[in-house]
Amino acid sequence: MKVLRVLALVLLSLGLAFPPLQAFDKQPPGVFRARRVALAASLNGGVAVLFAAEESQLDFTPYRQDSDFFYLTGWTEPGAALMIVGETKQASTPRAYKEILFLPARNLRMEKYTGVKMDAATPGVAEAAGVDDVEPMTELPAELSRLLTADRKLLDNLWTQPGAPQAAPLLSFTATALGTGMSPRPHDVTTLTMPLRQIKDDGEIGLIKRASAASVLAQRVMMQWWVKPGMTERAIAGAMTAVWMENGCERPSYAPIVGSGINSTVLHYSANDRTMQDGDILLVDAACEYSMYAADITRTVPVNGHFTPRQREIYSIVLGAQQAAIKAFVAGKSTINDRDRLDPNSLDTVAYNYINTHGKDLHGQPLGQYWLHGLGHMMGIDVHDPANYPVVLRPGMVFTIEPGIYIPEEKLGVRIECDFLVDRDGKLVDLDAGLPHTADEIEAAMLAGKGTAK
Ligand code: GLY
Ligand code: MN
Repeated sequence: MKVLRVLALVLLSLGLAFPPLQAFDKQPPGVFRARRVALAASLNGGVAVLFAAEESQLDFTPYRQDSDFFYLTGWTEPGAALMIVGETKQASTPRAYKEILFLPARNLRMEKYTGVKMDAATPGVAEAAGVDDVEPMTELPAELSRLLTADRKLLDNLWTQPGAPQAAPLLSFTATALGTGMSPRPHDVTTLTMPLRQIKDDGEIGLIKRASAASVLAQRVMMQWWVKPGMTERAIAGAMTAVWMENGCERPSYAPIVGSGINSTVLHYSANDRTMQDGDILLVDAACEYSMYAADITRTVPVNGHFTPRQREIYSIVLGAQQAAIKAFVAGKSTINDRDRLDPNSLDTVAYNYINTHGKDLHGQPLGQYWLHGLGHMMGIDVHDPANYPVVLRPGMVFTIEPGIYIPEEKLGVRIECDFLVDRDGKLVDLDAGLPHTADEIEAAMLAGKGTAK
């Protein structure tokens, strides 16, 4: 317990401890309604039906709400459906905007395993959902058939998630109900939610900042107190998970990557089962999710607290590439995740050119060949928020800049990953500014933790 007291005191002195948090930090209902109205506006008079995620049998595997469903409703319970009807003023078939949340009937036996749920008959459910209308799920096919019977042209303007297993049976039953031979072929509604999700509102930015702050704290605790020869990679992941959860986060935003030595060169390494050795490099790509919003942070540190000259050289090149990309950034012009690395507006090109013109491998060859992935990705409800890359970076967007060099021959992998917001003025804001960036800062943070009991 001495350890926890020391930790709490140090965190408080760093101004890093958070006030107690409520279980789930949800944006006000009006925010979700505005998103549904925005989606309806892009339906061109069509109808969208989205499905929530299903809870696994007996809850043995973790449940997480479908990202688009959450974005549009804030509803976190499983098994629901959302119908949005787009307004049309067409004289023959005018329709007003309409939204209905369909909820499955409660299953009292399953609730003994997975907890109490709401259904359409639960008192106060409409208020809890913040949706105009809440109906039992049994009404979904009836409601859809009614709309299509009144206007069969709607068959060509149906939208749903391509991955939702419920969509095909619903549509084929509807075709039967309408006496139509062929099941309608729906459009992909995620192509409409994607651009909406890319521009974050202030509330979303606040949630991402909470995820970032808890992730920064865990990264700092990692480098200051946990990394040393003899420690396992998995123990590092465990210690970071404890910090995230103490700070109100519900889960890691992806499987923690804690790769020492040769494992630092494996991009999505997740076994985390090696014991770290003196002289190893350690790549820690690990961050958490706060109230459904992700952070994504990587730091690379020396296991014994001191970079070797070669580790420091490669680290400085990766950092230089990140800084070159940051310097080149122009809102509304720069792009990210351009695998061709030829377009001068692409930050990938800038970072690649930096890496390829600094340093050499053991055979005197340039280092560009050792960077294998895109420079970054959109981030939000998903750690990799949906996007058609390359994306032009605009105000309200949140994304990562994460150059890396991975040289298996030298058992040396370095990635530095920070999360950025383009603010309203088009300025780039580093959400991980509170975390060491340079090799010197990392060594200083590791030194500061030495001698503190664990
Ligand atoms: N942090 C893992 C990734 O971005 O792929
Ligand atoms: Mn990433």
